Amino acid sequence: MTKRRALVTGGAGFIGSHVADALASAEYDVTALDDLSTGKRRNVAPGVRLEELDIRSPEAAHLVQTGGFDLICHLAAQIDVRKSVADPIADADRNILGTLNLLEAARQAPKPPRFIFSSTGGAIYGDFAEPPSAETEPKDPESPYGIAKLAAEYYVAYYGRVHKLDVVALRYANVYGPRQDPHGEAGVVAMFCQRLIDGTPVTVFGDGRQTRDYVFVGDVARANALAASAAIPRAGRLDVRAFNVGTGVPTSVLDLAEALMRAAGKTCPVEYAPARPGEQQRSFIDVSKSASVLGWTPSVALDTGLKHTYDWFRAIAGS
Ligand SMILES: NC(=O)c1ccc[n+]([C@@H]2O[C@H](COP(=O)([O-])OP(=O)(O)OC[C@H]3O[C@@H](n4cnc5c(N)ncnc54)[C@H](O)[C@@H]3O)[C@@H](O)[C@H]2O)c1
Repeated sequence: MTKRRALVTGGAGFIGSHVADALASAEYDVTALDDLSTGKRRNVAPGVRLEELDIRSPEAAHLVQTGGFDLICHLAAQIDVRKSVADPIADADRNILGTLNLLEAARQAPKPPRFIFSSTGGAIYGDFAEPPSAETEPKDPESPYGIAKLAAEYYVAYYGRVHKLDVVALRYANVYGPRQDPHGEAGVVAMFCQRLIDGTPVTVFGDGRQTRDYVFVGDVARANALAASAAIPRAGRLDVRAFNVGTGVPTSVLDLAEALMRAAGKTCPVEYAPARPGEQQRSFIDVSKSASVLGWTPSVALDTGLKHTYDWFRAIAGS
């Protein structure tokens, strides 16, 4: 039997490489498309082909259009919220125009693939509504990054409605796990792991009581694999084909630091810095729709995921 073919954009990145691994384990023939701007060649497993391309390029569009893919998981993006504030045009260029380039190509493929867009459940709902946020919650992103992701979701829904492309949007909470960049702004767990290993203080902004919903990367990869084949009603509105991928559990930054120190069996000083303006105070998402439609629920408890992540960072620090 010929294998189903999947393209994973951002497949050399943190989450994308885990998605590529999950699809390869599910017997897909997997190609990763990545410009290696933050991604690493070493994240790409030996069985996965790497196409070093920019999602905004005609070459990427050509690959999508002619590659015979059954599935596209689109994760390539500019992911740094502070960079999006400093340069919203560069953010929109990658996150809106890059996505649009792939959607246009996908709809022109002889047999259009299912298109799974990686969106954010942490940055599109904003701070107005009472969490946990369900998919249908009004959206008021606090940053250009969140606005670009929401704009891209509207395009995704439009291609579903008007061009009948088989689209899905997965809205991730705060994802953590092995291979996350410890220097990137998005990954507080990775950053804290690195500080613990280096023996330097972890920095907490404000009073540390702001909450986030931390979901393990293996669970996010599994959500993509399930969304690849789930029966999802083809309906028009933005939220119908969108799914929150988180745990529904709020964890404060201080509790996270404590849990990580427990998992690591090691402590380090906590240093306080002034609260960052515009930082969201409470963010966690309702995942009941993913459970009922995709058959997905998170399976890795925070303590277990943190231990696994810390052990991975310690192993690479020692290698
Ligand atoms: N990490 C999180 O907590 C989180 C939360 C919500 C949503 N997301 C989304 O998940 C996706 C993956 O994020 P991540 O945390 O793995 O980040 P990452 O930076 O590790 O991965 C992004 C990948 O995209 C590649 N890339 C960037 N611009 C590109 C371009 N123009 N052409 C081709 N490749 C390009 C990078 O090289 C990198 O490998 C992103 O779409 C992000 O917005 C992440």
